[in-house]
Amino acid sequence: MSLKSAKKAVLATALSGLVSIAAQAGNVEVLHYWTSGGEAKSAAVLKQLLEAEGHQWKDFAVAGGGGESAMTVLKSRAVSGNPPSAAQIKGLDIQEWAELGFLTPLDAVADKAGWDNLLPTVVSNVMKYDGHYVAVPVNVHRVNWLWANPEVFKKSGAEVPTTWEEFFTAADKIKAAGFIPLAHGGQAWQDATLFEAVALGMGGADFYRKAFVEHDQSVLTSAKMTEILATFKRLNQYIDADAAGRDWNIATSMVINGKAAMQVMGDWAKGEFTAAGKQPGKDYLCVAAPDTQNGFTFNIDSFAMFDLKDADDKQAQADLARLIMEPEFQETFNLNKGSIPARLGMPRDKFDSCAHKSMDDFVATAKSGGLVPSMAHGMSTTSAVQGAIYDVVTNYFNSDSLTPEQATEKLARAVKAAI
Ligand code: GAL
Repeated sequence: MSLKSAKKAVLATALSGLVSIAAQAGNVEVLHYWTSGGEAKSAAVLKQLLEAEGHQWKDFAVAGGGGESAMTVLKSRAVSGNPPSAAQIKGLDIQEWAELGFLTPLDAVADKAGWDNLLPTVVSNVMKYDGHYVAVPVNVHRVNWLWANPEVFKKSGAEVPTTWEEFFTAADKIKAAGFIPLAHGGQAWQDATLFEAVALGMGGADFYRKAFVEHDQSVLTSAKMTEILATFKRLNQYIDADAAGRDWNIATSMVINGKAAMQVMGDWAKGEFTAAGKQPGKDYLCVAAPDTQNGFTFNIDSFAMFDLKDADDKQAQADLARLIMEPEFQETFNLNKGSIPARLGMPRDKFDSCAHKSMDDFVATAKSGGLVPSMAHGMSTTSAVQGAIYDVVTNYFNSDSLTPEQATEKLARAVKAAI
């Protein structure tokens, strides 16, 4: 190294030291479960932005789709008095953590940036406890999607289905042509994701809300629910024999590489198509899950902020909260994640046709009443009720021990007991 460049390097180090002192560098430990290809790219966006402010990001990734394992780890850390700064907690869980006194209010950041004017109320309601923001939304995921490989459909002589009846017709043709009709992973949350799509499609938004938000026993025990459970079970024969325990992103890769024709999954699946360099409308198709064209099952990812002691870490945490709501993060993160920004009024031009459809349908269904919270993803009910539904649904789907009538009864009873 020449003397000149050595001097430059010394100066640069000194300057970066000054910058970080000025910014009062803190540590932010962030618990999340974004470990698939598309998800990891998305999480990296937040890390980079935070580090650019001079803070340190301590990654606390707990693998496991849907976040069940992450929540178990979080509980043990919090109970032992050592919670992370931020954790990806969603929906009604935010309320539970806040009620227990673990979370810190974000009013100073929220007021300064005017979050109330930047978020749809359906989003801000979830982020607030007792009128105060305790969490920050990163996105809105739509759950009721069907992802399709057009090549496989073409080779099978099948049409992409718009109804569950059409689904079975197409699936028979696809199976006969030697492909796997439905890519799926046998994990409780994935079974529940499929089940809620069938329930929304066959029951409609009002039925869905009564069952999964209000837990209305007359709806839970209805003949409609039995019909839904029977249709749901029929899907099993279109899934391959190796599905047990398979991660959702492995199932998505089966659609990407043409082994399977379809997957019913939220648009985090699009993050995988994007990471694989695939184009919507050409390499893959995104359509509403059968019979759910007028519905939108929403799933909002968010970071709840834990109460911290160290002043620098608190500052870093506040900076994280601020960054999450800024347009730069909301755009770049969501382009990678497959979701749409939670923040209103964002430019649409960089987003693809699937995201545009999601943005349009989010607004349209909010007006029509078709916008419903995802049960499978912690938006519609407490984790206790959700867990009870998961258990019945997954046992019923993966064994032949219950008839649809018995499963209906069991589901209704399990929900009642868990409320
Ligand atoms: C959802 C979560 C998404 C995605 C997915 C798979 O519940 O909201 O961000 O990570 O699980 O893990």
